[in-house]
Amino acid sequence: MADHDVVVVGGGGAGLRAAIAIAQTHPRLNVAIVSKVYPMRSHTASAEGGAAAVIATGDTQDEHAYDTISGSDWLADQDAVEAFVAEAPRELRTVEHWGCPWSRRSDGEIAVRAFGGMQKMRTWFAADKTGFHLLHTLFQTSLRYEQLTRYDEWYVTRLLVDENRVHGVVGIELATGRIEAVTGRAVVLCTGGCGRVYPFTTNGNIKTGDGMALAYLAGAPLKDMEFVQYHPTGLPFTGILITEAARAEGGWLLNKDGYRYLQDYDLGTPCPTPVLRSMELGPRDRLSQAFVHEQRKGRTVDTRYGPVVHLDLRHLGTAVIDSKLPFVRELCLRYERIDPVHELIPVRPVQHYMMGGVHTDLDGATGIPGLYAAGEVACVSINGANRLGSNSLPELLVFGRRAGLAAAEFASAAATRPGRAIETQVADERRRLERDLLARRDGRERIADIRTEMQHTIQDCAGIYRDSESLVAGADKLQQLRERFGKATIEDTCRTFNTELVAALELGFMLDVAETIVACALRREESRGAHQRTDFPDRDDARFLAHSLVVRDSSGLPRVDYLPVTLTRWPPGERIYGR
Ligand code: FUM
Repeated sequence: MADHDVVVVGGGGAGLRAAIAIAQTHPRLNVAIVSKVYPMRSHTASAEGGAAAVIATGDTQDEHAYDTISGSDWLADQDAVEAFVAEAPRELRTVEHWGCPWSRRSDGEIAVRAFGGMQKMRTWFAADKTGFHLLHTLFQTSLRYEQLTRYDEWYVTRLLVDENRVHGVVGIELATGRIEAVTGRAVVLCTGGCGRVYPFTTNGNIKTGDGMALAYLAGAPLKDMEFVQYHPTGLPFTGILITEAARAEGGWLLNKDGYRYLQDYDLGTPCPTPVLRSMELGPRDRLSQAFVHEQRKGRTVDTRYGPVVHLDLRHLGTAVIDSKLPFVRELCLRYERIDPVHELIPVRPVQHYMMGGVHTDLDGATGIPGLYAAGEVACVSINGANRLGSNSLPELLVFGRRAGLAAAEFASAAATRPGRAIETQVADERRRLERDLLARRDGRERIADIRTEMQHTIQDCAGIYRDSESLVAGADKLQQLRERFGKATIEDTCRTFNTELVAALELGFMLDVAETIVACALRREESRGAHQRTDFPDRDDARFLAHSLVVRDSSGLPRVDYLPVTLTRWPPGERIYGR
């Protein structure tokens, strides 16, 4: 059993930021970073377009807050948003001092670009590989602190909770199959989202909702799980993201007739102030919904990988594409054999981000003392019913730092060490993994089949549009899949990199998370942001200006309750965007 003061689960942007904050402010604390993959393989590396924070003259934090709150369809907590916009500029400057190569204007100042739903240009970027550079910066900075101990390629299977307090985690060292406890007086979950619950996603294979499920199974509530973001421009088949920056730089979305169809859709009330943006920079929820309508009107293009529209960058020219969007060109050439300098890019909406996650306060504290969460795994909430593009990178910095500091304070004050109950939990977990899973070879069901069925079930019932009938059917189907999961076989008995065992554990977590998405979507009888109920087409502030909170009841099923939204200065109103 390895013992630390704080255990950070996840080595991506939020986890590294949390760990660095602890190392800098509490140098005596010993921190474990337990990560399913080598940190530079974390999904933060895939973020492309940029990170929003007020820097330019003529822009204000209140405007950033307003855009974020109206973009969230008034479901964001306004105290959280105010803290976020105030701290984001400092965080982006801090990572610059640590080496993040932000793109610059010719006069040497930080360059900013437009982004969807933002009424001012405030998105900092590093070409279109922002997440890669940010992750690299955080990783190399973390190497300066010897009090950070890394457990790379360890898969966490359980939180250790006793007497209403967290005491660490149990994980499998993937290279050896060794099952060990990593204990600590505080734990920070930074495991990212759960895009792989869906069949078509921009998310890497590692994003299987592990942290959400770990917290949920330990008794912490999840919040706003029905709000699932579709990004309007994913490459067909692979789901690889074609960044919103392509539209920020002037790209157009065309239907099968070569027509900029977004001019036919209400992307929000026209903005009264002069506008920088085109209609292609409407918010993601509305753009993805517009695609569905074009499809229903027969104005999308059929391909072997489903209906698509086209993203046209040809008029931008080689110089802009190569300097501002080099990764877009590289991805198109590599995965579609298409050169966007000369050809149209086929795109369609793709699951991209979870607005919901583990319920936390502004310092990342969950309902379980000592347990914190930050990044996409968490729901503070600044994103409400729809996140604006480029808010997630500053979010993971601002709240990663806050969660790290709060966990350090908690660990410093907490005196008790784990007792016998924790040893029993570790022994139970070892038995479950070794006897119940690794020795399970006589089942008839295959993990991959159940996973595929789960993904299609959730897409069919909790996609861009939902209704009661499909959600009820989805909930039933998930119950059947859970029963079949209990009979699944694991053929691989090897302890070294047993990917079949990991896939089984991930599937268990994804089934938990999928059930919460469906339960929350069924209970919310209104349409707001990314949650569009065809049977309840209007926003209903009287009943639902509230966060869903879902916990696991004694029979193992999700139980949904509500928590009022925190409003400070912006009363609920209409969403307003420029055209
Ligand atoms: O399109 C993008 O580059 C995505 C950015 C984001 O999700 O924040």
